[in-house]
Amino acid sequence: MCGIIGLAFAEGSGVASALVRGLKRLEYRGYDSMGVAVIEGPGRLVVRKAAGKIEEVARRTGVLGLRGRVGIGHTRWATHGPPNDVNAHPHTDCGGRVAVVHNGVIRNYASLRRELESRGHRLVSETDTELVAHLVEDYLSRGYSFLEALAFLGRVLRGSYALALLHSGEPERVYFVRYKSPLVVGLGDGVNAVASDITAVLDVARDVVVLEDGEFGWIAPGEVAIYRPRGDGGFEPLPPGELRRRVKRVEWTPESASKAGYPHYMLKEIYEQPQALSETLEGIIEDPRLERAAELVAGSKGLFIVGAGTSYHAGLAGQYYLSRLAGVVGHVVVASEHKVYTPGVGEDSVVVAVSQSGETFDTLEAVREWRRRGARIVGVTNVVGSALDRESDVTLYLRAGPEIGVAATKTFLAQTILLQTLAVAAARMTGRLSGGEARGLLAVLEGASETVRKAILASEGVAREEAGRLKAANSMYIIGRGIGARLAMEAALKVKEVSYIHAEAYPAGESKHGPIALVEPEFKVYVLASSDSPEIVGNALEMKARGGSVTVVSPSDLDLDIPEGIEVLRMPPTGGEILLDAYSLTPYFQLLAYHLAVARGYDPDKPRNLAKTVTVE
Ligand code: AGP
Repeated sequence: MCGIIGLAFAEGSGVASALVRGLKRLEYRGYDSMGVAVIEGPGRLVVRKAAGKIEEVARRTGVLGLRGRVGIGHTRWATHGPPNDVNAHPHTDCGGRVAVVHNGVIRNYASLRRELESRGHRLVSETDTELVAHLVEDYLSRGYSFLEALAFLGRVLRGSYALALLHSGEPERVYFVRYKSPLVVGLGDGVNAVASDITAVLDVARDVVVLEDGEFGWIAPGEVAIYRPRGDGGFEPLPPGELRRRVKRVEWTPESASKAGYPHYMLKEIYEQPQALSETLEGIIEDPRLERAAELVAGSKGLFIVGAGTSYHAGLAGQYYLSRLAGVVGHVVVASEHKVYTPGVGEDSVVVAVSQSGETFDTLEAVREWRRRGARIVGVTNVVGSALDRESDVTLYLRAGPEIGVAATKTFLAQTILLQTLAVAAARMTGRLSGGEARGLLAVLEGASETVRKAILASEGVAREEAGRLKAANSMYIIGRGIGARLAMEAALKVKEVSYIHAEAYPAGESKHGPIALVEPEFKVYVLASSDSPEIVGNALEMKARGGSVTVVSPSDLDLDIPEGIEVLRMPPTGGEILLDAYSLTPYFQLLAYHLAVARGYDPDKPRNLAKTVTVE
């Protein structure tokens, strides 16, 4: 979730300051390091970069003193290697003639790195990005053009990447490539641009072309060329007619775009979930640390999954999948209650510690205390270099990008997909899944991103309307069974923390053991019907019989026999795959919580009494 930008001005020498302005607009995508590369003249490619905030690094490293018309820039959210000066982008080849900035995850970076090193390339950073500069150098040294080198990248790189590149031998051009990570070209007056986000080009351009997967090309002052791969392995330019048709005028102003056009970070982050899921999945599937973590989990004599708030709920989902798929049943522990479990923790224990920030006090306390007792720690975090990362035996990284809204949204589903992948890998080790079955489930998980995208689209309008009707409610239940009960707990947390309406979640089978006593006419009850529990219809009927206002939320292909009088919200199909329920059912409640907050006049990004990271007991 880094931000990238490239600019090519026809005149002047102020590209560096324009790059810094564009990077400020991308800062929400990552902010642990920044850097720029500028062509100061033929053959003079200059790079300035360091860990730190954009303006501070720009001042300290002399970025603003660079003089040139063409350059690229990057603001980083660390995924491969901690945030430090060496890992900051741009990265260059051995000869310092190619510079590259990157957003995305290159899955096969370990094998490519070995291959490049065996051919004599010297890679200095821990990033997956640097190998792109060396790959391009390799192709150039074999006599291929820069454009041909970019076309070859599509054949060797696996994962997701949006790239902007400079070549010191072509001082007028910024090259670019897009595959599964967003990239737009901006066409301005006397300047062309390429960037991860429309917001970053608004200072210089209002006409944009959104690039499609596999497309690559270059911008220069007054010129743009876009190419796409052909079926026969070659490539071809977009016909001028098609290029003209794809140019869209953007009505946003730079001011309206401070949150990429969204009124709140929470909404933006809900909409970022498709990308957060695909990048997290791509990153974890070929990460060698996954196998190590799965070995620990599958071989443990006692498994403890610990976290707080949303991370605790993701832990509950993780427990469900580890049990169902791998046959490993773990204790899920609310971090602040960890002492209750301490006597059961010893040298054979394994702890999966889940924390978006990696800095939550109670989670770290559990990790430290249990580590002293000999337990091995598998950390799951979104922040490279966080305390949890440093104190874990193995860290598995979410690649959700920075989450600014206090309410966790995209990190919950990123945690869920990561723990599902861990459960699949552990099931291979315990022998519950064959290699073919495991690959089949990973293929199902590749559909998570699309499922969540459709769920957001299906939910947006209905959640807003429902928020209008429900805004005066005092209380509601959200119930489910199986995985649905776990998702219901996260749904209820979202509603209460941003809208301040009391929302309680519990396993639906508990209704008759107490909670149904509160149900009276108009009392709102949401019933989460997940693929594993179609029998939940009986619980919906009990609530309806007491006059409750009952809404069933279910995947559209779940066969439910629901009588008149109970509202049903049909979410994207899961094909009966329990791995997909979270992605089909969660966005409705995130959006409901968001719209309830707005309808009641509250700022969903800054809920009262709450902080993003709780670093005290
Ligand atoms: C949920 O929306 C909250 N932001 C909160 O419950 C959060 O999940 C909890 O404080 C844990 O934070 P962590 O994931 O950074 O450890």
